[in-house]
Amino acid sequence: MSFSTHFTHAITRRSAASIIKGLRAVDTGTPDLALIQSHHDAYIATLRETGATVVELPALEAFPDSVFVEDTALCLPQGAVVMRPGAPTRLGEAAEMAPHLRALYTQVVEITGTDSFIEGGDILVTEKEILVGRSARTNAAGIAELTRLVAPWGHTVREVHTPPGVLHFKTDCSLLDADTVLSTTRLSASGCFKGYKLIDIPDGEEAAANTIRFNEFVLMPAGFPKTRDRLTAAGFTVREIGNTECAKLDGGMSCLSLRFSPK
Ligand code: GLY
Repeated sequence: MSFSTHFTHAITRRSAASIIKGLRAVDTGTPDLALIQSHHDAYIATLRETGATVVELPALEAFPDSVFVEDTALCLPQGAVVMRPGAPTRLGEAAEMAPHLRALYTQVVEITGTDSFIEGGDILVTEKEILVGRSARTNAAGIAELTRLVAPWGHTVREVHTPPGVLHFKTDCSLLDADTVLSTTRLSASGCFKGYKLIDIPDGEEAAANTIRFNEFVLMPAGFPKTRDRLTAAGFTVREIGNTECAKLDGGMSCLSLRFSPK
């Protein structure tokens, strides 16, 4: 079973009411708290439908973006790496996540360099390598530190680039199976997915690129029929989850969970 698409566990965190003050590139309106919760409930129910154990952590009002737990850690089969988010208002979220990872993993290490910044949204784990996109949130020092930390676990890191103006590397791509990637063409044009099978995001549906393969399902944001049909035609079992409110904060399917099978 592929460790990059099949998981026994996920960690999520309930949205704080303070999410209305969350970071966003462009203000497209105030997120509706009830709708966020209803979308989040559907997301968690879908993860659970696969038989996975899903931890729901309580809301953290001090951290408006803390529903986006993916940015706080990288979870690998051998252990977890606690990140150092590059957004100053998000830095403290990582320490809030660390004890929950220690409860499930025997090995938890941390990015500690004061000049190192790295967020989980910039990291795509595949069976053969870990791709990390340099971005406004993830810098060379953070990538170098991650590379050193995961080498003893047998993982290699390849630095790539998050497109300008795009929040995270995985805003624009997802792993669908051991060697198939769903990507926007603005990202795949860089050549970073050479050696992988590619499924292109149809023009105009770029916001659908952030999906997750979680066991038998591909969870994707609702409202992107061309992408849905392309994934279905390729043989994937798609589940559409409402994401209108998290999208106002540049968040998507991957941002809402840490997915792993702890040792
Ligand atoms: N609103 C999510 C982020 O900017 O990190």
